[in-house]
Amino acid sequence: MPPVERSERELLESIIGEAGDRGHARPGEGLAIETRRLLLRAPTAADAAVIAELADNPRVAQNLLGMPHPYRIGDALAWIAEPAPANGQKHLVCVRARDAAPVPIGAVTLDHRRGARLPTLGCWLGEAFWGRGYSTEACHAVIDYAFLHQGHERLSFHCRVTNAAGRRVIEKCGFQWAGQELQASVFHGTVVAVDRFQIDRRTWESLRRWEPLRFVEDDGDAAWPLQGGRRPAEV
Ligand SMILES: CC(C)(COP(=O)(O)OP(=O)(O)OC[C@H]1O[C@@H](n2cnc3c(N)ncnc32)[C@H](O)[C@@H]1OP(=O)(O)O)[C@@H](O)C(=O)NCCC(=O)NCCS
Repeated sequence: MPPVERSERELLESIIGEAGDRGHARPGEGLAIETRRLLLRAPTAADAAVIAELADNPRVAQNLLGMPHPYRIGDALAWIAEPAPANGQKHLVCVRARDAAPVPIGAVTLDHRRGARLPTLGCWLGEAFWGRGYSTEACHAVIDYAFLHQGHERLSFHCRVTNAAGRRVIEKCGFQWAGQELQASVFHGTVVAVDRFQIDRRTWESLRRWEPLRFVEDDGDAAWPLQGGRRPAEV
């Protein structure tokens, strides 16, 4: 019997892993996203104090367009009370702790803030947690969810032109530069220059299918392809 061809979606889900088995799962409605080291879950009012402590830092706010500074518990409560955006995402990023509740370290969002045409990612972490790959890990998961479960075709990410670390996270997520513009910054009280980046579904799929490198003995006479079929010269 000929092998059953797997659909594109099944193939992608098998590459992406267990999250693919959740159908139309909606994180925030009792489900969280788990990555190797992180838990992405909906924020609750009980998180307000820790969010305020992490966010109340000019080195965080100066690189985010909408974050006020100083950042008080009231600001955190207002952010928590905002409903999750329609077909967007709003997660508290938590580090999984051994034998303890996961510790909140920042936030990652996907929405149409400031009238953006495309769903736009946003991400920040408390300074103590920078430089360990957590933002990239969280954004990878949010991007997978956006393409696999939310049906988005293209995502956007904005980054101040001076924000080298932010730009690096965006590049490590496969986004490509799409232009520059001025955007209002709450922290600076004026407009600042931002780079715009985008990733489309085809690019994401291609990156997610990138195969592991394999080596074979090269005796000059290896069968091609490796499991049956014809040699290139015969094709
Ligand atoms: C930007 C931010 C989210 C990065 O979080 P993070 O968890 O440290 O990010 P990661 O560890 O996943 O990746 C950071 C990358 O930037 C690089 N980086 C850090 N500082 C850098 C600098 N000054 N210049 C160039 N690259 C820098 C790191 O080396 C790393 O890249 P690498 O893996 O190739 O070495 C975090 O610094 C932050 O919250 N900043 C304030 C808010 C903000 O800027 N948000 C992003 C808006 S676009």
